[in-house]
Amino acid sequence: MGARLAVRDVSLHFGGVRVLEDVSFTVESGQIFGLVGPNGAGKTSLFNCVSGHYRPSAGSITIDDVEVVGSSPATLARQGLARTFQHPALQLRETVLENVLLGAHTRLPGGPVEWSLRLPRTVRAEKALRQEALDLLDRNGLGWAAKMRADELSHGLHKGIELCRALLTHPGLLLLDEPAAGLPHAEVEQLIETVRRVRDEDITVVIVEHNMGLISALTDRVVVLDHGRKLMEGSAAEAQADPRVIEAYIGKDAVDDAA
Ligand SMILES: Nc1ncnc2c1ncn2[C@@H]1O[C@H](COP(=O)(O)OP(=O)(O)OP(=O)(O)O)[C@@H](O)[C@H]1O
Ligand SMILES: [Mg+2]
Repeated sequence: MGARLAVRDVSLHFGGVRVLEDVSFTVESGQIFGLVGPNGAGKTSLFNCVSGHYRPSAGSITIDDVEVVGSSPATLARQGLARTFQHPALQLRETVLENVLLGAHTRLPGGPVEWSLRLPRTVRAEKALRQEALDLLDRNGLGWAAKMRADELSHGLHKGIELCRALLTHPGLLLLDEPAAGLPHAEVEQLIETVRRVRDEDITVVIVEHNMGLISALTDRVVVLDHGRKLMEGSAAEAQADPRVIEAYIGKDAVDDAA
């Protein structure tokens, strides 16, 4: 079963800067949920609150009814949360395969002491993880790159590598921060197929994305943020037709054009 995420009255303030203000929404198990809004709306900051990278100033966030505020990113990862980043941070000198394996050690039996002993069951489990990582790369069109160093590949491919890394942890909840940014059209189509497959494997997905084609194709429901506040919640079509949403985007564009 995919995890259920509940965000309740979350606010995030940095000094006098109000990055998020009283944001609430629920993502049901097995949904693909969109988080959209203009640049600076607070989307990445909200992901950072869910994944334990930021601590909200107020409010509650639960995953399957377990409070996550106050937990570290590592603890949440062990509890089944995985994410990708708007700006992927890979180990550039390591191979693509090694990058995908980062983080999946939590699936090995035992703990760090046992792992360092190189017991047969650890070696066997590592081998199985490696094979699974290679299969994931294959399925995402990246099998050819497994042995290449990450710094030999483009930014768009780095996003695919991060996605494989996240999936290898077998998450119940997956947060994707702008997975389509910088991808050519054909690869966006492939990404849409991948995310559908992920959902079919019983993983709840939350996507931050500016590509409304992808949001419309994939999401069951969206929340629109603007200046840290929830502007509306509904289907992608309702969001695109909502005058408040149009104004939030056009207002921002007009400001950008004038700058
Ligand atoms: N650590 C921080 N300290 C101070 N301000 C921050 C911090 N993190 C985010 N902010 C501010 O929060 C606001 C929202 O930023 P955020 O990155 O969450 O927006 P976003 O919706 O993801 O935008 P984009 O679509 O451009 O990625 C911005 O004004 C940003 O400067
Ligand atoms: Mg962002």
